[in-house]
Amino acid sequence: MTQTTTKLDFPTLDADLSQQSPQEIIKRALSLFDNISISFSGAEDVVLIDMAYKMNPNVKVFSLDTGRLHPETYQFIDRVRKHYGIAIDVVYPEAAPVEALVKAKGLFSFYEDGHQECCGVRKVAPLRRKLATLDAWITGQRKDQSPSTRATVPVIQADGAFSTPEHSLVKFNPLANWSSADVWNYIRALEVPYNSLHERGFISIGCEPCTKPTLPQQHEREGRWWWEEATQKECGLHAK
Ligand code: ADX
Ligand code: SF4
Repeated sequence: MTQTTTKLDFPTLDADLSQQSPQEIIKRALSLFDNISISFSGAEDVVLIDMAYKMNPNVKVFSLDTGRLHPETYQFIDRVRKHYGIAIDVVYPEAAPVEALVKAKGLFSFYEDGHQECCGVRKVAPLRRKLATLDAWITGQRKDQSPSTRATVPVIQADGAFSTPEHSLVKFNPLANWSSADVWNYIRALEVPYNSLHERGFISIGCEPCTKPTLPQQHEREGRWWWEEATQKECGLHAK
């Protein structure tokens, strides 16, 4: 059954679902929406696929290929595809804006004038295109991923960034209240496949030039866009 967002009472649903497990939240999401897809980054958000697949083997999944992911991440995305026998919709940026940016500023402009422009072209625009085809999406965002920017992530929300007057979109964040430890306990207990970069000190994984391993006791977000302030470490995928 597919509902329109106007019929959903978000505060009540959020209050109700916040008390429930990620599996219960995913179950509710899949029952509310047919045209819904998991947004898979190729990192520990694989747990979303594992949980959803066990409820519905036809669950839809997409990944944004920025063209700058680690080789290990490409390998992992394909491993997940084969492991579950699912189609993963890999979404690419349009060539023209990428070519224009690289021609004007080179391949590493983000180190000089910030990551927003490159993320805008390589991640946000393709995501906007993809989300225009969906009624709802499921992300792996968690509160503990960033005290600066994600402390209030709800488990369900009207997507204020990607809804349009003609097309409203709902966003589910089933792992919002899980910790990194909860995610890794799940991966290990259920032998879920994981990105081999995690064996080399990477915790949070994004694009290769913008991600580095973290030291013991460093927050995972410190390995992302490390040359920028903590409050700037969002690429626009999860704008409010
Ligand atoms: S980011 O905005 O800083 O890049 P992060 O890496 O923390 O996001 O991941 C949070 C969630 O955003 C992921 O669990 C996933 O749902 C979504 N996401 C991030 N990067 C991608 C990607 N390349 N493709 C698809 N979804 C992504
Ligand atoms: Fe570009 Fe880095 Fe953003 Fe990837 S994370 S899209 S390489 S700025």
